[in-house]
Amino acid sequence: MDQKINRNEVEKRVRELNNLLKEYGHAYYVLDKPVVPDSVYDQHMQELLAIEAEHPDLIFPDSPSQRVGGEILSNFSKVVHEFPMLSLSNVFNEEDIRDFDRRVQAGAGHSITYICELKIDGLAVSLKYEKGNFIQGSTRGDGTIGEDITANLKTIHAIPLKLSEPITIEVRGEAYMPKKSFIKLNEMRDENGEEPFANPRNAAAGSLRQLDPKIAASRNLSVFIYGIGGDGSAYGQDSHSDSLDYLATLGFKTNTGSKRCSSIEEVIEYIESWQERRQDLDYEIDGIVIKVDGYEDQEQLGFTARSPRWATAYKFPAEEVHTKLLDIELSVGRTGVVTPTAILEPVRVAGTTVARASLHNEDLIREKDIRIGDAVIIRKAGILSRKSSVFSLNNGQEWKNLTKCPIIARYVIPSLSGLMEK
Ligand code: IVH
Repeated sequence: MDQKINRNEVEKRVRELNNLLKEYGHAYYVLDKPVVPDSVYDQHMQELLAIEAEHPDLIFPDSPSQRVGGEILSNFSKVVHEFPMLSLSNVFNEEDIRDFDRRVQAGAGHSITYICELKIDGLAVSLKYEKGNFIQGSTRGDGTIGEDITANLKTIHAIPLKLSEPITIEVRGEAYMPKKSFIKLNEMRDENGEEPFANPRNAAAGSLRQLDPKIAASRNLSVFIYGIGGDGSAYGQDSHSDSLDYLATLGFKTNTGSKRCSSIEEVIEYIESWQERRQDLDYEIDGIVIKVDGYEDQEQLGFTARSPRWATAYKFPAEEVHTKLLDIELSVGRTGVVTPTAILEPVRVAGTTVARASLHNEDLIREKDIRIGDAVIIRKAGILSRKSSVFSLNNGQEWKNLTKCPIIARYVIPSLSGLMEK
């Protein structure tokens, strides 16, 4: 009898600890607003772990202790997506954006409310919940078949293991590595003589591709959920913005930067304001996603083979691009100073085609051992003044092969509004 009472008490405490840790975790990882100091979270977690070690039958599948599985996988199994994971069409300038708007308005037959979102630079994931429990998470793969990375996704605290409602739902989002975690990770890799990751997106993808979930757990990843897989109206929602609110009430981390815009002018203003502020964010974004908000309008517009007609992605101009040094031109100024100019294989950087860039002076050419025929990087002015670990955030994927590549030119980029007025 006594034993039974004791056992009931223990179970009660375990449930209490589960709930407290879930609440603290949600505040910290989803809302970004901690409600207790880390030490309190740790104490509760230690207590739960101790009880669970003594009473393994009280380990619930959604216990916060179950985020890191002990097993190392031998491979990832394939997942056939119930709803294909499509991609988005891209637009690159104001004209493209206005063309998209014209097509949408013509297709819908009336004026449209858009919802603009930050385009998170990570990797697309699909999360499946059955009766409120997280049962499977996968990568996009080719859009039809992805890989089962459930064990790694479970290590991401921003992904709820149990929803606030016992519903069956598939959600889509972007897993990413915050800039701070990326810098720390690369510093550690550098100290250990390991190859640094080129950018946070590669670091996030590399982490989720690990067969040992402990590695993913150590990488501090996060996720933003940006939509419901399949038909959002099946969940009683009339628009994408309503769905985002609903997803947040279910316990998902949604991005608070999204905005409803009732004209294309507002959309353009939104893009311009984020283009200027993107550096202030704690994570990388590579553009803005423009979506038709109303589900009825979305349905009317439909899909092409690869992407929805009701959405598009405005891609920020690349801030750094690779090209080839074709020639060095020398010009003599009125004061007799010789200025060398790089003649480049024309390349688009930050929205403009660049074919020439100043090399400043002969010393710089000698110092960097710049030679005709070299592979070179053109980057937006100002970036060179940052710490190298920070500016590698903007490097392209081929950075590894180009570490010896001389940085020969700074090219001053006109602002987006300047570009858009052209
Ligand atoms: S909506 C039908 N919203 O961008 C496709 N995608 O090709 C619906 N992405 O890899 C995608 N942030 O994972 C959407 N706020 C956002 C996004 C976003 C990043 C990624 C997505 C996909 C790519 C689109």
